Amino acid sequence: TSTGQQQLIALHERTRDLYHHLLMNTKAGEDALTYLHERGLSDELISEFKIGFAPSQRDFLVQVAQQDKVNADLMERSGLFIRRDDGSFSDRFYQRVMFPLNDFRGKPIGFSGRMLKTEEFPGNDQPKYLNSPETELFNKRQVLFNFDKARNEIRKQGEAVLFEGFMDVLAAWQADIKIGLASMGTSLTEQQIAAIERITGQVVIAYDGDDPGQAATDRALAILDAHSRLTLATVTVPEKLDPDEYLRKYGVAELQNLLKHGRQTPFAFKMQYHKKGLNLDNESDRLKYLEFVMQDLAKVQSPVEQDLYLGQLAVEFHLTRESLKQQLQMVRQTLR
Ligand code: UTP
Ligand code: MN
Ligand code: MN
Ligand code: MN
Ligand code: MN
Repeated sequence: TSTGQQQLIALHERTRDLYHHLLMNTKAGEDALTYLHERGLSDELISEFKIGFAPSQRDFLVQVAQQDKVNADLMERSGLFIRRDDGSFSDRFYQRVMFPLNDFRGKPIGFSGRMLKTEEFPGNDQPKYLNSPETELFNKRQVLFNFDKARNEIRKQGEAVLFEGFMDVLAAWQADIKIGLASMGTSLTEQQIAAIERITGQVVIAYDGDDPGQAATDRALAILDAHSRLTLATVTVPEKLDPDEYLRKYGVAELQNLLKHGRQTPFAFKMQYHKKGLNLDNESDRLKYLEFVMQDLAKVQSPVEQDLYLGQLAVEFHLTRESLKQQLQMVRQTLR
């Protein structure tokens, strides 16, 4: 790491610690702290992750930086400020709950700031989460939230759980599931997958239970399948809930139970997912579905697993196992 990078990290550390202090110890941070408590986050977790609050004035950090004699070039490169046309700076983040984003060593390299309450700003065009822009430190495609803290536990337990949002990672942490990771709102990148593969051979995908979350699960399976040799499983959270919402509604034990015993194989997930939007009473939809499923089943490596699903399909579609097997053979030949 160059001196420039060290200075940028130091600025992020200073900023993180100030925001954390504001949240925990000042009147300005009171509403934000209440908000986090209402979302079920404990002070212990808030301190562990050094969550903070960026106050409403637009020059809070600007003034700190000026007192600290941070030069304009460094301020600009940090991504923490917005430069006006006249050359002066304002804070990029204000009136937001601040989540530090760390590199794999645990050094803060960026932030994601959440607006306090989405409902209170109808017609507000501000994003719910505002992230640091791309800088020489921060590359969204490389960040995996919680990788620094979870790494050892993932190694020990032999698996990681991939969530859609970092609030879900934090909820899981509260439920003593400390192997959660999240990408920053983008689909998985090859860099992130490579980092995961270096520490484990198994990943459970537990994205949001809503339709976008399920579509993202389908995409993640395809990406992971194409770019890794990881053993995969999926969890579909009931009632279209986020894992975080599920924890709030049903408690710690139920979330643990869901993540442990609610797993499906990728094939079972895809069988269920690709039924959506089809009417299986309709002959042509039924054929379309079977064709898709057989394409996918042909790629399943384990003969036992393959046989299991063949049996299920035979029952469900009133077909003989024999005809399904023949079909599978044909598909396999075309795949070769
Ligand atoms: P979600 O909207 O599912 O986040 O987006 P969440 O964790 O459920 O948030 P809460 O519970 O409403 O607070 C998933 C991820 O997409 C990114 C964030 O990284 C988030 O964790 N995202 C989402 C953004 O970057 N910007 C946004 O405005 C929204
Ligand atoms: Mn979510
Ligand atoms: Mn979502
Ligand atoms: Mn959520
Ligand atoms: Mn949602």
